[in-house]
Amino acid sequence: MGDGFEFVGGTCICENGGKPPHSKKAKWRERRDLRRSETQDPGAKAAPGAPTTQEGNAQEPVTHSLPGALDGPHMSRTKMRLGKAAKMEVGGRAPGVAEWRAECHDLNDPAARRKVLAHRRCHPSTQVMARGLVRPQQLEGFVEDVPGRGRGAGGLRAACEMDQGETMPITEDQLTGTKELIALEEAYGAHNYHPLDVVIERAAGAWVYDVEGKRYLDCLAAYSAVNQGHCHPRILETLIEQAKKVTLTSRAFRNAQLPLLYKELHELTGMEMTLPMNSGAEAVETAVKAARKWGYTKKGIPAGKAEIIVCEGNFHGRTVTVVSFSSDEQYREGFGPFTPGFRIIPFGDAKALREAITPNTCAFLVEPIQGEAGIRIPPDGFLREAAAICREQRVLLMVDEIQSGLGRTGKMFAFMHEGIRPDVLIVGKALAGGYYPVSAVLASKEILGVFGPGDHGSTFGGNPLACAVARTSLRVLIEEKLVERSAELGAYFLEKLRTLRSPVVKEVRGRGLWIGIELTTEARKYCEALKDEGILCKETHSHIIRIAPPLVIQREEIDWAFERIRKVLE
Ligand SMILES: Cc1ncc(COP(=O)(O)O)c(C=O)c1O
Repeated sequence: MGDGFEFVGGTCICENGGKPPHSKKAKWRERRDLRRSETQDPGAKAAPGAPTTQEGNAQEPVTHSLPGALDGPHMSRTKMRLGKAAKMEVGGRAPGVAEWRAECHDLNDPAARRKVLAHRRCHPSTQVMARGLVRPQQLEGFVEDVPGRGRGAGGLRAACEMDQGETMPITEDQLTGTKELIALEEAYGAHNYHPLDVVIERAAGAWVYDVEGKRYLDCLAAYSAVNQGHCHPRILETLIEQAKKVTLTSRAFRNAQLPLLYKELHELTGMEMTLPMNSGAEAVETAVKAARKWGYTKKGIPAGKAEIIVCEGNFHGRTVTVVSFSSDEQYREGFGPFTPGFRIIPFGDAKALREAITPNTCAFLVEPIQGEAGIRIPPDGFLREAAAICREQRVLLMVDEIQSGLGRTGKMFAFMHEGIRPDVLIVGKALAGGYYPVSAVLASKEILGVFGPGDHGSTFGGNPLACAVARTSLRVLIEEKLVERSAELGAYFLEKLRTLRSPVVKEVRGRGLWIGIELTTEARKYCEALKDEGILCKETHSHIIRIAPPLVIQREEIDWAFERIRKVLE
């Protein structure tokens, strides 16, 4: 008698032959029937050629969602059979991938485990088990509702196959739950982040929805990359339209979107030239290269001697050169040797800037407001003074507006609060409304003109899809008056938050819709409590809560959020 269960196309079909009906099983049946009638899911019946267990043929198959099932059209067939004699079969096919077959009969057998692991296309659940990350007994976590037999540590056997099986796309209702997705992420992903345990499935405007259907007000906006709001429909339309035309040409050829983005960025910023990149860190690297080359070719700095001044507490990205000048030891530890040529001064200290400049200084790189450091706002007049010093000493003032720019602080760029004009402007994140990684360095012809063909580049930098998306993202910011909105609603939110009376709140500061609540204690547990209240925000530097919602947030939503923040903090 089989009491195993079989997964087909990411759906578990339980054989429970001869056993009395189980109440959970009845629910199962209901779901299966519903799914069959809605989707005519071919997986609802045993697939042709499906292997059978040693215990006999399947009876009364019952469907379950299979956490971690391969998703999307590349999945052709997944079968998993577990039971008393515990046989499991898993299959799938990627188009164009040669047929493969692997079998192993006992995941507790090290040789068999190696065999499964050798097949990288093996079903994730199988791999998870084969890696020993999930013990057979833990299958309950993966497969709820199944009567708990046949999962003994000794009995698990598995076979994987991948063949030309019929296409059986995983349907949405087969997506997995929070717990299972987190387990897979933890098992397969590098642990270079410490996210809150919310698994977001979709989003619109200022709201995101998790896989369980719970909604949250997003008060992080992907570190200010979705200033325009999640899935902005106008940007989406552009993305789709452009994707139908051409997405990538490389810069070996010209494309019809890049010149228009150049022109529009010039009109927006007054900067003569743009050099497009993808991530923020790449743009910062580009600025560093431009400044050095300018230093050698225009300022006459001896070869290899150029210096760039940066600020303590800076955050400009994660590449080796960029972390070379981080003052945060965690960002550097284990990643040396580092790129030389950087000097660190205290943030907001114009006198220190003046003293740090030498004849070899080519640039001063600064965030107008430090985001990662906890929304640190320099003293009034600092940027103005820094700009004057740089001009006087012939040092380039390079402002990193990757997070502070594009409306976040209530001006198009944060440097505008001080009425200055930088030599080099670095932008990213919201430049593409969260749809695409697009960054850019903007400067004069004298500065960006130092690059000749072959000096610098990126396959994806300036691609037509990126440029089209960036153009619409900028238009949305301007036409929907999101910058003004940030100024107005930011002041409103800040004023409200400043009324918080809490022993753990040390300071509330901010500019525009970019607010830091500095606590006297660890912020993580408050972020977790806020998550439970339906607000997503993230601690920065352990004791600061950063509030940075999409700029499309409504006043009533701010009121709603404030009540919850007060509940959690007071
Ligand atoms: C000011 C600043 N510069 C650079 C970066 C790096 O951008 P990216 O993560 O796109 O490389 C960030 C990211 O948070 C940032 O805030």
